[in-house]
Amino acid sequence: MKVTKICCIGAGYVGGPTMSVIAQKCPDIKVTVVDINQTRIDAWNDPDLSNLPVYEPGLDKVVAEARGRNLFFSTDVIKAIEESEMIFISVNTPTKTYGEGKGMAADLKWVELCARQIATASKEDKIVVEKSTLPVRTAQAVKDILVNTGNGLKFQILSNPEFLAEGTAIEDLESPDRVLIGGDDTPEGKIAIQALVDIYARWVPKDRILTTNVWSSELSKLTANAFLAQRVSSINALSELCEVTGADVSEVAKAIGTDSRIGSKFLKASVGFGGSCFQKDILNMVYICRSYQLNEVADYWEQVIKMNDHQKARFAKKIIKSLYNTVSGKKITFLGWAFKKDTNDTRESAAIYVADHLLSEQAKICVYDPKVNQEKVYADLEYLNTRSSDENRRHVKVMNDPYEACKDSHAIAILTEWDEFKTYDWEKIYQNMLKPATLFDGRNILSKEEMTKIGFRFYAIGKP
Ligand code: NAD
Ligand code: UDX
Repeated sequence: MKVTKICCIGAGYVGGPTMSVIAQKCPDIKVTVVDINQTRIDAWNDPDLSNLPVYEPGLDKVVAEARGRNLFFSTDVIKAIEESEMIFISVNTPTKTYGEGKGMAADLKWVELCARQIATASKEDKIVVEKSTLPVRTAQAVKDILVNTGNGLKFQILSNPEFLAEGTAIEDLESPDRVLIGGDDTPEGKIAIQALVDIYARWVPKDRILTTNVWSSELSKLTANAFLAQRVSSINALSELCEVTGADVSEVAKAIGTDSRIGSKFLKASVGFGGSCFQKDILNMVYICRSYQLNEVADYWEQVIKMNDHQKARFAKKIIKSLYNTVSGKKITFLGWAFKKDTNDTRESAAIYVADHLLSEQAKICVYDPKVNQEKVYADLEYLNTRSSDENRRHVKVMNDPYEACKDSHAIAILTEWDEFKTYDWEKIYQNMLKPATLFDGRNILSKEEMTKIGFRFYAIGKP
């Protein structure tokens, strides 16, 4: 079966870049990305590519090449479903904020809505691809809705989780470590799997396209994120031990990372992991384990989150302690608000929690991030609901110039590892600060030697 028209429901951080790359690599396939959010779709269609709703290095070039040729962004969900043979579901699946499973389970209401929209709009058999990260066995529910509310049509459900990391999405999509496709072991299931394999095989080597049953594919995605997050929490746990023993966490990471069984990647100690995936997916896995009464397994993975919360709080407490146990009325500058470099995404960013902690101690915070705007910073703080919106706006200022942001501050905290921070004139920044001037490097990107030579009091994660 040759697919000629694809639709993707959800034009977010995954749907947008993923479909842009598919469209770029397959000029003969019409790819339509739909979303209920008109503002987002307008931004995807903006002639000025610097206004795309997702910032990813290289994304603008891909969109410029494919948009209007075979890549389209629209809010007409029904029409796009109707005309496509293959439909990707790439909507958000955040942690539930209400009812049963609140704070733990994935909220699947948007996925269910997609299934219902597909059932309503379809006039022919369709292949439905789960691109969103979903709890294991979700495909069963999607199928149930499609079969029972559809028009007697046949639907094949595939699981094709996305492994891209933000900030390197285009690189990851163009050259993935693997593509995972789960489907039914029936003749129809195999045809559907092959149809999707044929799309990826245009640019991904065949040995990197793995096919499995649906449940293995769904669970592999949660497992991958749990393992990755666990590595960060493990090195962060060790960073605290390093600080009290005089070991250096970077040296320890290098020493253990050269062991090929451990590997060198994902061993950077930090102020704590953020992003829309790690915490949500582990909480979801913990919830699933508890629902099967696997309490020891659940406790084991939950510890990864607890360690991460501890790391964020520890960083905030370190700032307070170093500033004579009070930050009340003191200006503290945050360099970075995004959850990692090269993205404008701030979901679950450590910066939000560190700021919240310091604001509760009456600090005045000034934020500079090269890709995050003022309204996003306020929205992130408001979402926590710790204090009124008015208070957040009074005590937090967002600046467009890093030097202005650092001026007259008691301390600077680096929350995101943006490359440009390394190139600043730190001597000049130091001159314009109140003394003693303290620098808290939450990402270990600056040299302690150089910074202390300038005159800074310097604290880095996991360093003696
Ligand atoms: P996102 O919030 O950026 O985008 C989701 C989009 O779906 C939103 O624009 C929303 O308006 C739209 N939407 C929701 N319901 C809809 C409906 N019924 N019809 C049309 N549009 C609808 O989310 P994201 O970061 O792209 O994540 C999507 C999924 O991919 C999640 O399950 C996530 O866990 C998974 N994932 C994310 C990443 C990542 O790095 N962000 C990586 C891998 C997997
Ligand atoms: C993650 C997974 O890597 C990706 O495969 C999945 O598809 C989505 O979730 P993402 O959250 O975009 O991707 O970024 P990632 O590079 O994994 O970083 C997550 C967080 O961990 C960031 O806050 C990052 O700064 C932090 N991190 C990562 C560390 O603190 N140390 C490290 O060594 C690596």
